[in-house]
Amino acid sequence: MYHVSKSYLPGTFALRDVTLEVHKGEFVFLTGPSGAGKTTLLKLLFAAEQPSEGQIVLRGRNIARLRDSAIPGLRRRIGVVFQDFKLLTRRSVEDNVAIALEVLGRHPREIRRRTFGLLKQVGLQHRRHHLPLSLSGGEQQRIALARALAGEPELLLADEPTGNLDPDLTLEIMDLIAHASARGTTVIVATHDHSLVERYGRRTLHLEGGRVKEDAAAAGPRR
Ligand SMILES: Nc1ncnc2c1ncn2[C@@H]1O[C@H](COP(=O)(O)OP(=O)(O)O)[C@@H](O)[C@H]1O
Ligand SMILES: [Mg+2]
Repeated sequence: MYHVSKSYLPGTFALRDVTLEVHKGEFVFLTGPSGAGKTTLLKLLFAAEQPSEGQIVLRGRNIARLRDSAIPGLRRRIGVVFQDFKLLTRRSVEDNVAIALEVLGRHPREIRRRTFGLLKQVGLQHRRHHLPLSLSGGEQQRIALARALAGEPELLLADEPTGNLDPDLTLEIMDLIAHASARGTTVIVATHDHSLVERYGRRTLHLEGGRVKEDAAAAGPRR
């Protein structure tokens, strides 16, 4: 993204003149205190918000001024775990994951197999027939991650994906994300959990007051 600013209200900036490049296959942590602009940055990449200024180039296209009709195509290649999980409350846990694959036109047999596999990986296979709202916050977060990873997206955007999880689950979920990264998915994880950042030793973009304060290269994985 080039010289991107985002202002929700006149005279205030959620992001100010942010220029950064993330390469295909990279794994990047986005850190910074509450209000720094982390969620805003992720939303811009998903075209959930438009920048007030600047360009956001994904695969050679400026998505800052995308036609509405082009947004679904963009989003099909992006997996997201936002903090308001946007789960379908009237559909089962299993359906929430399966629908992401139906949208991509996958074969029913593959959908069943992959959905089961993903729910197993996030430790929710025993809950697959439940409704999302009958599960805990951490469990809902894991459904959202399973759904986001279902289509093996080119880009995964995760906003505090371990925010509601205890330490053991946090590591399992992060390992799942690292696994997706190892298979070629570009990953951006917003977090204020510095122990995560230290443990995984990836490139870290530190935001403060809407600006990039530091862009620290990967320290080398410590697994
Ligand atoms: N929809 C919105 N309307 C008005 N202000 C917003 C909105 N979303 C975020 N902001 C403001 O933008 C700034 C950055 O917020 P956010 O991107 O959520 O930061 P972070 O995720 O790092 O906590 C904050 O000052 C926040 O209050
Ligand atoms: Mg946030």
